[in-house]
Amino acid sequence: MEPPNQQDPNAEPQVPRQCFRRRYPEADYYEEKNKDKLRNDTYKKAIDCHADKIKDKVVLDLGCGTGILSILCAKAGASKVYAVDVGTDIAGQVEHIVEANNKSHVIVVWRGSFEDFDIAEREGVDVIVSEWMGQMLLGEEMLLKVITARDRWLKPEGLILPSSGTLFMAPFTNSNQYREKVAFWQNVAGIDMSAMIPFTEQNAFHLPNVDRIRNGYLLANPAEVKHINCYSITTPELISMSISFPMTALRRGVVHGFAFWFDAEFTGLRDEEEQRSALDLMDEVPVLCTGPSLPSTHWEQTLIYFPAPVTLEKGKSLTGSVTLTQPAQHKWHMDIQLVYRSNRGNLVSDKRVELFSR
Ligand SMILES: C[S@@+](CC[C@H](N)C(=O)[O-])C[C@H]1O[C@@H](n2cnc3c(N)ncnc32)[C@H](O)[C@@H]1O
Repeated sequence: MEPPNQQDPNAEPQVPRQCFRRRYPEADYYEEKNKDKLRNDTYKKAIDCHADKIKDKVVLDLGCGTGILSILCAKAGASKVYAVDVGTDIAGQVEHIVEANNKSHVIVVWRGSFEDFDIAEREGVDVIVSEWMGQMLLGEEMLLKVITARDRWLKPEGLILPSSGTLFMAPFTNSNQYREKVAFWQNVAGIDMSAMIPFTEQNAFHLPNVDRIRNGYLLANPAEVKHINCYSITTPELISMSISFPMTALRRGVVHGFAFWFDAEFTGLRDEEEQRSALDLMDEVPVLCTGPSLPSTHWEQTLIYFPAPVTLEKGKSLTGSVTLTQPAQHKWHMDIQLVYRSNRGNLVSDKRVELFSR
């Protein structure tokens, strides 16, 4: 693995490639999710809010896990809920959970991949509910599956929950973490080991970190990376997405990297403009916010550290671009290409670093 090239801004960057590792879902995966009160409460609020479109209707809970969303839809009056999960162990548990909650007459549990089932010929579905959001919104690739199910089964006026998702990013400072990983080499038991610093900088922060960053550690207002309309997004649009940004520092600080997080929005609206207008009325629309300014969720934030920090003066801009790509040959991975450039006063300090996550 080659380190990123920071010397020559015109040189082709050589980049480290690392990965978001994802576990096959086990009990602790579902425990973490079901203990997440904000997640549970927001889905419940969203299902209750759209109960008029769920009552007496057919629902697909795609990747039902423990079946919590299926049961909430059954309680909201759905006439039938297809609860499907590829994890045959968890689907076995769902059958018991459904029975214990007296919903066996409404909820049909499918054990296996949703691709192997077909209901289109018979009825289609009125509602697709799914918890597809992963790290940086798109991790876990569940959204690609929601799109496939939507195109196969959703009736023309059907409801999708969540209806849209938005990915945000902002530069952050985190000296404690940086010190813990890198700066401590300056003095180890009274010995100068600072020669280790460049080596450590290249290696310490290769992987995206899933961690909590507090709002006060952000150095600029968040930028929207992508708003995804679940009614209209297509698979090719999801394979690669990119934005360029100028971000203006709200105060002087040392930027250690970029934080990413998302909102999942339950407007029930199909049109993007209408979705955005409805989101301005945040109190009215259930939104699952996983950002730093709000109570913590199990998604926390995804932090991508720079190989070396950058000092940013108040009012100065950090410019660059981020490109997220889901490589076809590496289904469980996401490539993250981050390019940034900072100006320090009249001195132009061009940095061009690319980080990949694979
Ligand atoms: C984020 S979890 C859903 C958790 C669930 N909402 C809960 O609260 O327990 C996503 C689920 O999708 C399932 N899944 C992934 N790919 C699938 C597929 N092709 N067909 C059906 N289920 C799938 C996984 O096994 C996992 O349980």
